[in-house]
Amino acid sequence: MTKPVAEQTDLSRRTLVTAGLGLAAASSIAAAPGRATAARKTLPNGFWWGTATAAHQIEGNNTNSDFWLAENVKPTLFQEPSLDACDSYHRYGEDIALAAKLGFNAHRFGIEWARIEPEPGKFSAAALDHYQRVMEACHAKGLAPVITFSHWTVPRWFAAMGGFEHPDSPALFARFAERATAKLGPLMAAASTFNEANIARLIQARPESKLIGPAVRAMLAACAKASGSDRFASVLFADLAKSEANQVAAHEQAFQAIKAGPGNFPVGVTISMQDVQGVGEGHRATEIEDQIYGPWIAQAAKADFVGVQTYTRIRVDANGIMPTPKGAELTAAGYEFYPEALGATIRYAARKTGRPIYVTENGIGTDDDTRRIAYIDRAVASMRACIDDGIDVRGYLHWSLLDNYEWVFGYKQRFGLVAVDLKTFKRTPKPSALHLGAMARSSRRLGK
Ligand code: BGC
Repeated sequence: MTKPVAEQTDLSRRTLVTAGLGLAAASSIAAAPGRATAARKTLPNGFWWGTATAAHQIEGNNTNSDFWLAENVKPTLFQEPSLDACDSYHRYGEDIALAAKLGFNAHRFGIEWARIEPEPGKFSAAALDHYQRVMEACHAKGLAPVITFSHWTVPRWFAAMGGFEHPDSPALFARFAERATAKLGPLMAAASTFNEANIARLIQARPESKLIGPAVRAMLAACAKASGSDRFASVLFADLAKSEANQVAAHEQAFQAIKAGPGNFPVGVTISMQDVQGVGEGHRATEIEDQIYGPWIAQAAKADFVGVQTYTRIRVDANGIMPTPKGAELTAAGYEFYPEALGATIRYAARKTGRPIYVTENGIGTDDDTRRIAYIDRAVASMRACIDDGIDVRGYLHWSLLDNYEWVFGYKQRFGLVAVDLKTFKRTPKPSALHLGAMARSSRRLGK
């Protein structure tokens, strides 16, 4: 027999709280019985709960990529090379089954250009077959495959011809996108051209960053030499004056190529966002926002969705970016622990682009999993407040499923819900994995 609606609602509320869905759910319980409550809006049908990963960070042995070379030349900025990473190239079935078992219904991952087009114009049928199997495994387990065409890595040959500094780069990237979509488009649930298209801008906004300067130039020179070239350009260490216009054109052309191919799914671009907070009179927050987002907000506004990727906030006064507040809790990545940045950046992205939003990354590097749980609760609460206010947010993909290769920092910064033993590759879910999985499950079960 169907329960009366009032009883169903009560049960929903109890279960929400038990599942740790946080403060907003609790506040609706606190409302006086019988009074109309400022009811929380339900999440959109089919809201995606899941995790995000990147090919180079989990697959292992991405030997044909620019990063592999940069990790292994001398001098290098990389604390250690990626080597086997999480061996997900072979263990993807296990990863996908685990994500599904945890309770998720979407899975973000990259298809690796360096594997798919190992030599210019030569496409690997085996690599495309591999990603077809990965996507089929997602579907078989009820996970929507959310695809990244380029998560910073490019083929070595592309870097050695100057990467996105080369005038042919837009057409080359679009050709890769067209070939990959021809095979894999029917299996994609959503896709972005570039991961954090503005990443070099974000890095360069901080002149003290170790990711700019002479050490970077020396590493790239060593890569050029090892490639028998006089140049070697990387997305992460980009010379924006030479590459950004081409990267924008590459996005535009790839966007068209993907849309023209088979499959029917939204295509967007993901942006690395920080909650830029102005402090005091004459603060330069707007100037800093323009500096870190550059042309990418306008690009996102023309796409099907914007992928919001947020980790922290920055405070900006009249002199520019301020140091992290004294006594603030720092994550392993050195960022301020500030989960509410997610809600603020969602609002910014919605206001500036007017497009639907997927949170394509949000997370924390920490060895203290209780802080990850706290981060998730507060970040998700800030996202849900946006949805309550009518903002069109369609999914939350946590960074990351696995402890993985954190670029120049190697394996020491751990962003995973699941620990990985780098020798045996055994996966062990942390309490935070069960926590977010339970949130996903109960939200789906309750239509909340
Ligand atoms: C990137 C990921 C990275 C994560 C944590 C994001 O900027 O897309 O590749 O691992 O942040 O630093």
